[in-house]
Amino acid sequence: MPFLESCVSTIRPARPADALALCGLFAEAYRPPAGGEAREHYPFPQFFDPGWVAEAVLDPGICWLVAELEGKVVGTVGAERNVGSRFDRVAEGFGLVVSQGARGHRIGTRLMAALYAAVEEQAHYFIAETRTADAGGWKCVRHNGFKPTGFEPFAHLTPAGREAMLLTARVSSAALGQRSARASITQMVRALAEPVLESFGVALPEVKRAVPFAVDPRGLTRMRQSPSGMATEPGPAGHLIERDDEAGLRYLQSWDQDQAHGAGVACLRRLEGGHGNPDRYDRRCFVMRAGGRVVAAARVVSDRRDRRARILDLKSHGQGLQGLLIAGIVKELTQEAAGDHLTTVIDVHTGNPELQATVEALNFFPTAYYPALIGMNLERYDAIQYTRLCHRGEFRHSLDVLHRICWPEAQDLILRINEVVRASKRNSA
Ligand SMILES: CC(C)(COP(=O)(O)OP(=O)(O)OC[C@H]1O[C@@H](n2cnc3c(N)ncnc32)[C@H](O)[C@@H]1OP(=O)(O)O)[C@@H](O)C(=O)NCCC(=O)NCCS
Repeated sequence: MPFLESCVSTIRPARPADALALCGLFAEAYRPPAGGEAREHYPFPQFFDPGWVAEAVLDPGICWLVAELEGKVVGTVGAERNVGSRFDRVAEGFGLVVSQGARGHRIGTRLMAALYAAVEEQAHYFIAETRTADAGGWKCVRHNGFKPTGFEPFAHLTPAGREAMLLTARVSSAALGQRSARASITQMVRALAEPVLESFGVALPEVKRAVPFAVDPRGLTRMRQSPSGMATEPGPAGHLIERDDEAGLRYLQSWDQDQAHGAGVACLRRLEGGHGNPDRYDRRCFVMRAGGRVVAAARVVSDRRDRRARILDLKSHGQGLQGLLIAGIVKELTQEAAGDHLTTVIDVHTGNPELQATVEALNFFPTAYYPALIGMNLERYDAIQYTRLCHRGEFRHSLDVLHRICWPEAQDLILRINEVVRASKRNSA
């Protein structure tokens, strides 16, 4: 061990010439022992494509580091410098790997430290999603001052199976100091918000009994196929929901950055699985039209291997349409899943408690609490990651990871989420 420690001479930015070695590190770490392809067991298959990696390391929006030992690349980690608007300044880490022969010598911990130092000046918020099958990932971030913020059940298919992820974050004190006094949360969110905010040393927002937006089931029961895919018959108010990727993207892109989160959804450009896999990914937009005009739209990315769909963007003209649109999307995704496992995720912020109550009414439950995640009107708001499982009872299987995460704050969060799931099941029974 002392020998290796003294030999780790450099952590440096990755170069295009490292691409093959980087792909090799991911292949070694994620190749299932019983056979099968590593790229099929990792949420970002583009990391196995040397051409993509060689370009990505030069992308100024990405910070990608390697650890070198005697001229050989033995470890890596990276981050998108900002997955939000210019006000949000949210960095997202990815790809922490150390080659098997070099593990256990603090290389992973040092890589995380170097990565944080490299993005710290630009980022107010650093998200690190860490694995639960091995302790290495979360230990490396914990050693660098990250705190647990949530838990994602059945997040990704890895060599360990449908692996849950532990969400962690490091947040600048400037960002925490800008949290809005007008934020509020529902009673259901409180159970998760309390321990997270306590660990960050900041106050709980007002807890409010919010009235959910209408989720008009009558308008959604008569689905029909249209040339563009799913559509609903116009509901009582004349609203029609259908898949229309082109019109949806146009609508979503027409909003200014300072209105990015105006509909209550925290819209971040989180890292997505690579584009060269049409069989694995479905990226689509749903639009809501009234009188032929688009009045709301949402972008949904589904990973068929992970059986996970993320509602990554949602904008609407005026408040209140979100419920109908999300209900339509949930209905469509549930029909597609045809009784199989499906996880659906959406991030809602604390500036819109009605939307929190709306997604709760649609059987989403809070799985992460992100303090001061997004910037709006010179203030910052917390956000809540909500998760919906087609079979909510499945959540209890995620508790198997508890004994592997010997981090009391993280264990407490997981148990609290479990309590929320159990209580909401009782209430809906
Ligand atoms: C996670 C990983 C990068 C850690 O690299 P590393 O250089 O061995 O990390 P460090 O030496 O800094 O170890 C930090 C801690 O994690 C522990 N650890 C490291 N790898 C571990 C593993 N596979 N299982 C359990 N614990 C592990 C170390 O014992 C150390 O514990 P300590 O602080 O209590 O002494 C490496 O194990 C790896 O590449 N794993 C496969 C890919 C992976 O899971 N990446 C993490 C994604 S979140």
